[in-house]
Amino acid sequence: MTGPPRVIAIADPSLVVLIGAAGSGKSTFAARHFEAAEILSSDALREAVSGDAADQGASGRAFRILYRMLDARLGSGRTAAIDATNTHGRDRRALLAHADRHGVPAIAIVLDLPAAVIHARAAGRTERLVDPAVIDRQIAAVERTLEAGQLLDEGYAQVVILTTPAAVDAVVVVRDPAATEPA
Ligand code: CTP
Ligand code: MG
Repeated sequence: MTGPPRVIAIADPSLVVLIGAAGSGKSTFAARHFEAAEILSSDALREAVSGDAADQGASGRAFRILYRMLDARLGSGRTAAIDATNTHGRDRRALLAHADRHGVPAIAIVLDLPAAVIHARAAGRTERLVDPAVIDRQIAAVERTLEAGQLLDEGYAQVVILTTPAAVDAVVVVRDPAATEPA
């Protein structure tokens, strides 16, 4: 790490919603900062139900399981970090509704990296290659969301926007029971 750390203080429990196009580094970020049991990954659940993380036809079943796991974790006072693109408001609203129901604060962490970085990473993968046109639509959806300042309106207690690889690398997540009260 070169620059000063960027400390993200989260309440525990909280709902952490990672937001970013395919290839933006959500799974890498999640693995670095959260316990395996805290991470609810749409890819992992698609893989679990259909044998193929890229099988979009399995998304409905995968997300039904994800929401049940989210409910169970928040219901037992455990933090959950959602590793899915979450680029569209309707997907995020469904997650927020669970946090509200459990009285748990929600934190949005947006991996809003330059498009060239995202495309290079996505193209450099050996598995689960995503169509660059799909990635461009996801990037555009993130931009629209940020331009509209939509995330605070959606009810997040905290919104963290990371725009460079260095900013992502500088993140340190600390658990602070007093960090965020429910909005
Ligand atoms: N990567 C990287 N440096 C980082 C973060 C990610 O080189 N700081 C690389 C990863 O090794 C991976 C690619 O970029 O090959 C995409 O990262 P990943 O965490 O898999 O991105 P996701 O956002 O999880 O992509 P998806 O939505 O497709 O799961
Ligand atoms: Mg991933």
